[in-house]
Amino acid sequence: MNEALDEKKIALLRKNTTFVYLPEVESTFIEMKRLAHAGAADGSVVLAERQTAGRGRLGRRWVSSPGSGLYFSYLIKKPLPADKAARLTPALAVAVCSALRDCELKDAHIKWPNDIIAGGRKLCGILCEMELDASGGLAYAQAGVGLNVHKYPVPEDLKDKVAFCDEFIAVSRQNLLIAVLSRIDELCALAVKDFSRVLAQYRALCYTLGKQVSASGGQSAEGIAVDIGEECELIVRDDSGTLHALRTADVSLRGVMGYV
Ligand code: BTN
Repeated sequence: MNEALDEKKIALLRKNTTFVYLPEVESTFIEMKRLAHAGAADGSVVLAERQTAGRGRLGRRWVSSPGSGLYFSYLIKKPLPADKAARLTPALAVAVCSALRDCELKDAHIKWPNDIIAGGRKLCGILCEMELDASGGLAYAQAGVGLNVHKYPVPEDLKDKVAFCDEFIAVSRQNLLIAVLSRIDELCALAVKDFSRVLAQYRALCYTLGKQVSASGGQSAEGIAVDIGEECELIVRDDSGTLHALRTADVSLRGVMGYV
């Protein structure tokens, strides 16, 4: 499905911020960086139908399908110390997951650290980047969100890994975007004010907790995911009882087919 967005209506709702809607960019990260330096306000959004060089986690590419998904960067200019900027990523995960549930996609969960899944497959990827000012403070951060809404053909090897919102709910990109942006506004503010409340919501939505996991591609460990730490680390207890606090890793969950 190729569903247009009503740019004017969205811009009207995004009061005192900039909303940029582009048919094609290299990556919304690049466009947002330019806007952030030009003085765009907290909460501004750059959304593109197509990215020719979309970036994913761990240096991977991110593929976009015009009219089908929502690919955007959200600008965060908040009084947050640079060493607390990593808190924005779990806040974004809670925001997107909650917005999907607001839209009745009740099976939406967070797969640690920041994938949103449904039916065991990935619906949405989130990647945050930040820039420091001359004194080492946070100049700004931006959250890049890639959300699969309407189904489009994916390569055979990805079929079991990718999910689309319209497999679960009847929803327009327009309404979903409005719901997601509203939750992001709320959760980014909460991340600054009271991160423990973000974490409480994160734990409640986290699919990984309580599962047998295998972590690699950053830190590695194998065992049960027993908790989420105070800075959103995944706490894994291995067979010998040793606890591992993972900050960056790719986590596979053990299912009937082994680790996936
Ligand atoms: C992931 O690998 O899970 C994160 C994917 C993030 C993709 C989004 S799409 C909009 C923004 N611009 C990019 O180049 N990447 C992010």
